[in-house]
Amino acid sequence: MKTTFSIIKADVGGWPGHALVHPDLEEIARKKLTDAKRDKIITDFHVTHCGDDLELIMAHSNGTDAKEVHSLSWDTFCEATEKARDLGLYGAGQDLLSDAFSGNVKGMGPGVAEMEFTPRKAEPVIAFMMDKTEPGAFNLPIFKMFSDPFNTAGLIIDPSCHDGFVFEVWDIQEHKHVMLKSPEEMYDLLALIGAKSRFVIKRVFPKPSSKLPKDEAVSVISTEKLYQIAGEYVGKDDPVAAVRAQSGLPAVGEVLEGFSLGHLVSGWMRGSHNGPLMPVGIKDAACTRFDGPPRVAALGFQLKDGKLTEPVDLFDDPAFDITRRRCMEVMDYMRRHGPFEPHRLPMADMEYTTLPKVMKKLGTRFKKIK
Ligand code: F6R
Ligand code: MG
Ligand code: MG
Repeated sequence: MKTTFSIIKADVGGWPGHALVHPDLEEIARKKLTDAKRDKIITDFHVTHCGDDLELIMAHSNGTDAKEVHSLSWDTFCEATEKARDLGLYGAGQDLLSDAFSGNVKGMGPGVAEMEFTPRKAEPVIAFMMDKTEPGAFNLPIFKMFSDPFNTAGLIIDPSCHDGFVFEVWDIQEHKHVMLKSPEEMYDLLALIGAKSRFVIKRVFPKPSSKLPKDEAVSVISTEKLYQIAGEYVGKDDPVAAVRAQSGLPAVGEVLEGFSLGHLVSGWMRGSHNGPLMPVGIKDAACTRFDGPPRVAALGFQLKDGKLTEPVDLFDDPAFDITRRRCMEVMDYMRRHGPFEPHRLPMADMEYTTLPKVMKKLGTRFKKIK
């Protein structure tokens, strides 16, 4: 029987500012999802946070875009918002951009990464959660894990990975998508996904030669753009992703290796700066210095018969200290540029921040150069 693995998240109030989720909000979500498990809407769940984002990780058998699961998530975020208001948390209900819920949270503010698949005998699945950055931040690590032989040894030495994978890339400006095979079309793939604010990897699929069903995604990334939904700057999109691992897919360690650089992403303070993406354990998934730096947390589960094991906090490990140290060096170096590019985003990307309002005020004072 197929299982659906859903990560649905929203920022419904920060503690303090945009740093962290208050534990009372997580408690509300746990209670709500416990009731839903009892009522058999979902088969299992884990509630956590990354920075100021409340993360609902759920297993169920309703398929992707299921009304029951989306309504449950929406109601959970609404109840958590009420609590955030009671506590006076910052930006209560920030990501709930509409009152008119229509059965699916997509386009309403929350971020969604869902995939339905036939679980193998033993199914390792990892939930990645980022704060203070945008969906394109996943391009580099997802490319590395499924396409870079210097990252993933299995692409070279495991016959079940050797044929590579198929990437579904979305053009989030033109609302189009394209399927690209790797390694055959790797340069085309990179030509697109290197432009991470426009082209984002949405899903990865096995090749037809794989033992895995070729229409069942092995990875999925949330691609909701808050700016496009709200029509104005309301914070970065703080994406999530699910990645399956092992037995014909990258090993857990190859999946995590994709995050070992501490690569530069856009977001950070006011969604307007480039900075390093720091992999952290959940206990360190709070955004502090200059509202950052952008962070990524990873929880690893084994999934069986719709049940999730307790998660392993995969970046809570000294093996990632070297990445974190590099991130802190890079963070400090970038910060010294203050308002100058390339610490601050280029003007084209600043269109989606609050800067245009400042520029507008200066507009009439500009005179033609003779
Ligand atoms: C970035 C983010 C924060 C805020 C910043 C200003 O995604 O959430 O860096 O942009 O703290 O927030 P406001 O405008 O709410 O005072
Ligand atoms: Mg926030
Ligand atoms: Mg956030």
